[in-house]
Amino acid sequence: MKKIQIINGPNLNLLGKREPAVYGNTSFEEYLHTLRAKYPQCEISYFQSNIEGELINKIHETGFGYTGIIINAGAYTHTSIALYDAIKAVETPVIEVHISNVHAREAFRHTSLLSAACKGVIIGFGLDSYRLSVEAILAAQTDI
Ligand code: DQA
Repeated sequence: MKKIQIINGPNLNLLGKREPAVYGNTSFEEYLHTLRAKYPQCEISYFQSNIEGELINKIHETGFGYTGIIINAGAYTHTSIALYDAIKAVETPVIEVHISNVHAREAFRHTSLLSAACKGVIIGFGLDSYRLSVEAILAAQTDI
């Protein structure tokens, strides 16, 4: 059984209500239900926090036993050296995802401090960015 940890950062608890023109009308819980049903061969765990240190703790906790981690660090993507270090510190490959195409938005969203520590990056496909990340984990020969 492939174990996948999804980690969502700040303000992503408001998905479905938050700027729907940018992030859509679906809550993450609703989307997660669909995603889990589509991949019964995976155990998909979900964690969301608005607190940077809690995101780091979850990376440490899952970063030595899981097949893959999918992280949308929200705005911490653009600011957090501590999250970069946490991703570097663990063995489990980490995929960075973004719902919106950050490169088509404000300049401060164009830089990710996390990408260089990640296995790969999937940006701009709406919530489908998460499914594409699961596909990337499943497509890997072994643990990616
Ligand atoms: C985001 C993009 C970030 O710039 C923003 O701060 C978010 C969401 C995305 O998924 O599109 O909170 O990570």
